[in-house]
Amino acid sequence: MEKKLFTQLFSCVIFFLFVLVLLSSPAASQEVDDESEFDYTKNSEKGPDRWGEIKPEWSACGNGTMQSPIDLLNERVEVVSHLGRLKRSYKPSNATLMNRGHDMKLSFEGEAGSIEINGTEYELKQLHWHSPSEHTISGVRFDLELHMVHQSQDGKIAVVGIMYKIGRPDSFLLSLRDHLENITDTTSGESVVGVIDPRAIKIGSRKYYRYLGSLTTPPCTENVVWTIVRKVRTVTREQVKLLRVAVHDDSNSNARPLQPINWRTVQLYRPNEKEEN
Ligand SMILES: *[C@@H]1O[C@H](CO)[C@@H](O)[C@H](O)[C@H]1NC(C)=O
Ligand SMILES: *[C@@H]1O[C@H](CO)[C@@H](O)[C@H](O)[C@H]1NC(C)=O
Ligand SMILES: *[C@@H]1O[C@H](CO)[C@@H](O)[C@H](O)[C@H]1NC(C)=O
Ligand SMILES: *[C@@H]1O[C@H](CO)[C@@H](O)[C@H](O)[C@H]1NC(C)=O
Repeated sequence: MEKKLFTQLFSCVIFFLFVLVLLSSPAASQEVDDESEFDYTKNSEKGPDRWGEIKPEWSACGNGTMQSPIDLLNERVEVVSHLGRLKRSYKPSNATLMNRGHDMKLSFEGEAGSIEINGTEYELKQLHWHSPSEHTISGVRFDLELHMVHQSQDGKIAVVGIMYKIGRPDSFLLSLRDHLENITDTTSGESVVGVIDPRAIKIGSRKYYRYLGSLTTPPCTENVVWTIVRKVRTVTREQVKLLRVAVHDDSNSNARPLQPINWRTVQLYRPNEKEEN
């Protein structure tokens, strides 16, 4: 009798521990590498309006309430100075370039450093490009948008976005040209790039937008902390084209349509005069 009670108690404890482990494991919520399961064509069976129905794990794409991208409407933003400068502490790390089918992704194998937001450290994991830009500023869409994807120890995601319009070449993309050409037209083709220094990615402004959103590709994971650099940088038409060859769908774009802002606020960090001096 006592033994049975003990067994029951023991199973209870094991079950409880199991649930605890389940709850505490970070959500496996990074972007998918096989992009053939969705596309960017409007009204297509695998198009942006249907992403949420393709897989149960992708449901947030359809019924999420804090999705990205959004329009950063200048009249709506709340100008603040308390967020502080973006704290970047990157370092050179080995990287691999991959053609995911809809975009090019540069993954860091080693430690590429991190950014700090509100006391949390987010490590740089990968970066990739969308063309045209996914976010818009007061309705204006630009030619290219770089996403630098970071993740914290407990699985929270922070993305830094940089937008580009056609103009002078971007030096970072220039340094990747041979590697990009190497995997053009090779879906899931990879090219070992060697050591990349993320500090070579220029920002050129202290001002940035901050809001809470999601990944812009499936599984559209929410609670992503977005930082969009205010300054729009430049890139050449050829550089955009080189990145775009990866896009093999008919829509000739890998920008997700704008999502409803709902109850969210967008902040614009601007250093106050004392800090600027
Ligand atoms: C979205 O749909 C999924 C699957 O049907 C469900 O589990 C989830 O709770 C829904 N989320 C919201 C915010 O309604
Ligand atoms: C990059 O990889 C090479 C070869 O594996 C190694 O020798 C080198 O130390 C690595 N560099 C960095 C910065 O991790
Ligand atoms: C910043 O962190 C503090 C303490 O952890 C938390 O109370 C606050 O909500 C956070 N602010 C933002 C904007 O995430
Ligand atoms: C191109 O790819 C091949 C095969 O992955 C690799 O051996 C070669 O070093 C790459 N060249 C460049 C410039 O990336």
